[in-house]
Amino acid sequence: MIDETIINALKKLKIENIKKEHISKIGEGSWHTVYRIERQGEEDLALRVKKKTAYGHLQEYQESELITEYESTKIYYHYANACNDNLCPSYFDYYLDPSLVFTIESFMGKGTIQSLNQTEAFFTGEKAGYFFQEMHNQTPDIKGFGKLKWNGEKLEGSIQEEFERIWQDDNNFYISILDKLISSHLKFDVERITAKIDSIIEKRRNNPQKIALVNQDITPENIIMNTDYTAIIDPLPRLDFDVKYAGYFVFCYKFLLPAYSNAPRYRHNSYSQHAAKLSEIADGFIKGYTNHDVNQIEQIMNEYTLWVLLEAYEHLEVLNEENVSYQTLQQMGNKEMIKNRLILCLKQLESLCLDLE
Ligand SMILES: Nc1ncnc2c1ncn2[C@@H]1O[C@H](COP(=O)(O)OP(=O)(O)O)[C@@H](O)[C@H]1O
Ligand SMILES: [Mg+2]
Repeated sequence: MIDETIINALKKLKIENIKKEHISKIGEGSWHTVYRIERQGEEDLALRVKKKTAYGHLQEYQESELITEYESTKIYYHYANACNDNLCPSYFDYYLDPSLVFTIESFMGKGTIQSLNQTEAFFTGEKAGYFFQEMHNQTPDIKGFGKLKWNGEKLEGSIQEEFERIWQDDNNFYISILDKLISSHLKFDVERITAKIDSIIEKRRNNPQKIALVNQDITPENIIMNTDYTAIIDPLPRLDFDVKYAGYFVFCYKFLLPAYSNAPRYRHNSYSQHAAKLSEIADGFIKGYTNHDVNQIEQIMNEYTLWVLLEAYEHLEVLNEENVSYQTLQQMGNKEMIKNRLILCLKQLESLCLDLE
C-alpha cells in the first residue's frame, strides 16, 4: 500500500523514517489520493498526492496552473485562519516536480454526512454559515475579479475592470439567459418566472454586493462533518460577490446535490438519500450566515433562485452540444439524465418564483 510515490514524498518532507503503520490512506477525490501521517508529539498531517490521471485523462504537468491551484488554497487558508474558528488547516504547503506533485497540510479529522443526525446537520451548516460570513467580511489583498491566476509573483483575479461594469454585467447576464430559456422549445411558466427574475434583478442592481474571496467547492466531500467539529478542506477560491456565494451554498444543499445524485461522479455519495439532512445543513447555514436578518435571508433566497436559473440554462447548453465531453458526462450524466434534470430545474424555479410580492 505504501508505494514508491509516498516514499518519495516522505523523503522530500524529510520524514522518511516515519513508521509504515503511521501512514494510512484516508480518502480520494477526483484529483488527489490522500494519506494521513500520524506523528508523535506533533499534529497529524494529510498528504495529498496529485493523481496522474483524472476523468480518464493523463494530467500534463503544467507548473503555472499548479502554482495557481495551490497558492489559491494557501491564500484561502490564510484568510480562513484569520477568522478564528479553526475550520481550515492551519498548516499548508506544496511540492512540485514533474514526477511528483503533492500538498501537505494539517489533518482535520474524519466525518461524513452519514454520521450526523438532523440536528447535528443543522449545527454543521450553522458553523459553516457563520464562517462564510466572516470570510466574506474580510477584504482580500488580491486585485481584480473572477478566477484566480498566478502572475509569476502573486495571485490576481483574471478580470480587471471597474466594479460598476462587473456588477452590471453580472445582472445583465441573468436577464440574457432567461431570454435564451424563453426562446427555447421548453415548457415552463414564462410569465411567473419572468416577473420574479425581473423583480430580483431590479432590486439587485440597486444593492451592489461586496467582492469577497469565495469558495466554489463546498460539497460534503470537502467538508468534514463530525458531531464534535466541522472542517472545510480542498477549497476552490475565486473573487466574486459575497451574497451570491452564500446563495450558492444554499442552492447546493437544497437542490444541486440531490439533483446530481444519479450522475456517475456523484452516484456513490447517494445524496438523494440524504436530501433531508442536506436541507438541514442549508437551513443551518442561513441561520449562521444571517443571524435571522430578514433582508439578508431574502437576498440569499433570491441568489438561490438565480443559481437555479443558471443551472437550467447550462443544462440547455449541454443538450445543444453535439459532442458532450467525458468529464461532463461523468459530472452530469447522459443526455437523458440531463434532460430530466433540466425539467427538475424548471419545476424548482417555478416553485421558487411563487412568492411574488
Ligand atoms: N486535511 C485533511 N484532513 C482530513 N482529511 C482530508 C484532508 N484532506 C483531504 N482529506 C480527505 O480526503 C478526501 C479527498 O481529499 P480532497 O483534497 O478533497 O481531494 P480532491 O482534491 O481530489 O477532491 C476528502 O474528502 C477527505 O475525506
Ligand atoms: Mg475534494
